[in-house]
Amino acid sequence: MSWDFQQIKQTLREDAAAVASPRELEDFRIKYLGRKGLIQEIYASLADAPKDQKPIIGKEANDLKKMATALVEERKQGIGSQPGKAQRQLDPTLPGVAPRVGHKHLLTQTIEEICDIFEGLGFSIQEGPEVETEFNNFTALNIPEDHPSRDGFDTFYTNVKDRTSKDANLLLRSHTSPGQIRIMQEHTPPLAVVIPGKVYRPDAVDASHSFMFHQIEGLLVDKDVKFSHLKGLLHAFCKKLFGPDIKMRFRPHFFPFTEPSAEVDISWKGGKKEWLEIMGCGMVHPKVFEYAGYPKGKYTGLAFGLGVERMTMLKYGIPDIRLFYENDLRFLEQF
Ligand code: DAH
Repeated sequence: MSWDFQQIKQTLREDAAAVASPRELEDFRIKYLGRKGLIQEIYASLADAPKDQKPIIGKEANDLKKMATALVEERKQGIGSQPGKAQRQLDPTLPGVAPRVGHKHLLTQTIEEICDIFEGLGFSIQEGPEVETEFNNFTALNIPEDHPSRDGFDTFYTNVKDRTSKDANLLLRSHTSPGQIRIMQEHTPPLAVVIPGKVYRPDAVDASHSFMFHQIEGLLVDKDVKFSHLKGLLHAFCKKLFGPDIKMRFRPHFFPFTEPSAEVDISWKGGKKEWLEIMGCGMVHPKVFEYAGYPKGKYTGLAFGLGVERMTMLKYGIPDIRLFYENDLRFLEQF
């Protein structure tokens, strides 16, 4: 077999110049330097070559090997910095790929929607800490010492001592109502606030329970606040959130921090027909004013508290509370 080494060298250079990606470079290497590559083939042909040709073919094969090895190295550098053929063919007029933009979590959307409604009604938005004192979470809300909600099974206690108390530990608030106490300790009436935030209870997780969920607390204190104000306010709120056709009713209930107290049920066209409980409310108990340090008999107030998850589940027909926390985009992207 005779070889046209001039031609082979030229093709080698052209092939090297056309290499535009690591993949193509590997193909190039295999073609010339691989075990079954061209250069090995030339070496193999030495066995049958005429005697006088052997030194020439051997030298040419060595030269080719050096060249090919050097070209592989050179192109390896080149692919990184110089645009290869494929990159040169990039079409800059093609539309770009837009970055994926996230959006607010459905619970955040609901919290903002509810807070916006109350802001429109003259309330301001406040937040309180998630780690609370036993005093704010229970005592100042007129929840008696032996009330079951104080039990370790119903409240998460920390092992951090409460420096404002003789023998109590700090706890994770089990509702947003302690926010009422903080506001009243810092401000004198008239005041109207809503307090959104996370609350914690050691509940076993199932379709309607979670150890962490969100509440929104409302508090309005002034002179001569009446139960009719509470009813009118909550009716206006429900109409804004669920639509004008909504029906609402107050069912007598008991909460230690309000007197009288009620639970609010609604029924609306878009939803199910039956009455659904959406929140607790009432007139601030005089004991609570006393704990907050307000003068006796001077003020009256209304308060309410609602669960954000529950409200959102009712509004959008979501069957399982766990969906909110699993971060499954197939759920989250629907809202
Ligand atoms: N804190 C109550 C709970 O977690 C909810 C509540 C009921 C808040 C009545 C209030 C209220 O402010 O007046 O179950």
